[in-house]
Amino acid sequence: MTHLRRLYAGHDPARAVSIADLRAMAMARLPGFVAEYLEGGAEDERTLAANRASFAARRFAPRVLTGALPASGITLFDQSVALPLVVAPTGFNGLYWPQGDVALARAAAGAGVPFTQSTVSNAAIEDVATAGANHWFQLYAFRDRGASAALLARARAAGAQVLVVTVDAQLYGNREWNRRLYRGENTLRWRALLDGALHPGWMARVWRRGMPGFANLYPFLPAGQTGLLPSARWVKAAIDPALDWSAVAWARAHWDGPLVVKGIGHPDDAGRALAEGADGVVLSNHGGRQLDGAVSALDLVAPVRDRLGGGFTLLVDGGVRRGVDIATARALGADAVLAGRAVLYGLAAAGQAGAARALAILAEEYALAQGLIAGGSLWPLQDNFRDPSVSLVK
Ligand code: FNR
Repeated sequence: MTHLRRLYAGHDPARAVSIADLRAMAMARLPGFVAEYLEGGAEDERTLAANRASFAARRFAPRVLTGALPASGITLFDQSVALPLVVAPTGFNGLYWPQGDVALARAAAGAGVPFTQSTVSNAAIEDVATAGANHWFQLYAFRDRGASAALLARARAAGAQVLVVTVDAQLYGNREWNRRLYRGENTLRWRALLDGALHPGWMARVWRRGMPGFANLYPFLPAGQTGLLPSARWVKAAIDPALDWSAVAWARAHWDGPLVVKGIGHPDDAGRALAEGADGVVLSNHGGRQLDGAVSALDLVAPVRDRLGGGFTLLVDGGVRRGVDIATARALGADAVLAGRAVLYGLAAAGQAGAARALAILAEEYALAQGLIAGGSLWPLQDNFRDPSVSLVK
């Protein structure tokens, strides 16, 4: 029988029944160097693996005969969301699909979940705003606070609701599998280019238009220097390797809406972020792309909630590939998850329709998991058992 067990890797996103199918579709379409950028982690990818393993190790003790139906929606920063999930900020989304950021934002709007736009998105803030999503903006705090302030002003003017300040990328992670594909800083090796040529669909869709630049950064780049190479160089120089908490205090003083600090990997830092005026944190190891050896963020959820209590928004990311993962994060004390690669697989597989399919799959799986857990709890039972995992309607 096992030979009949094959993931779907064809063209129709409606035929994908899981995120794994969308991943197979994406991998069939992307040249290796793009797939590597999407998939890869730092060094030996221990943290990348731990992110998944941490979810895979959890078990629920479900309840039965409750007579209740599951409800999926929650309120996040005073906005109703259809699912406790936020599309994570990811740079370079134009590598998977033309105007990939806008396609993702439209898919998020359709699914009723927030979309977080990266500082290093390929689409401009104002273009993403036209998608009508619950628009969150992610900031890499630059040395040049004038540039950061200009980005925040644009995000505000475009209607962005929530500011996400990412603090775990002051140094660039050592992604060795990615580095092997380049000679010099940003020049692909011949074999990587050749592999690109072997993916004519992607070449026609994406490469034909040239590598997409970082549209939000154009105002800061010297005239005629908006290409990928000078942009990447500018970003590298713009980020302070000795970033400190004054960046969060600065962002707090320049943003009057909800603010969350992303990239928290230690309970003490979660407390410090709140003390600096953040409304929430994203426990995250950047999808295993920064410190290889960092703890999975899921393992931090319960300690952080236990220590800091309920008065703030606790988000977590890294390894979410199933609806039951969302239930797991909530059962441990998180309010919601961020999803990066799960949605990018959909985008790379089939553009907006593929991203929409990824979100629909996660929503369907989450509703099913909620219904089957039915108010049950993680196993082994805990004394201080909290149960935000399942909201039931009678
Ligand atoms: C990221 N991530 C990220 N984070 C951020 O704050 N700004 C960014 O520009 C990016 N760029 C980025 C690109 C790619 C290709 C990936 C995979 C990730 C990290 C991202 O927001 C999130 O923390 C992880 O993706 C979560 O892990 P999963 O869901 O991908 O397993």
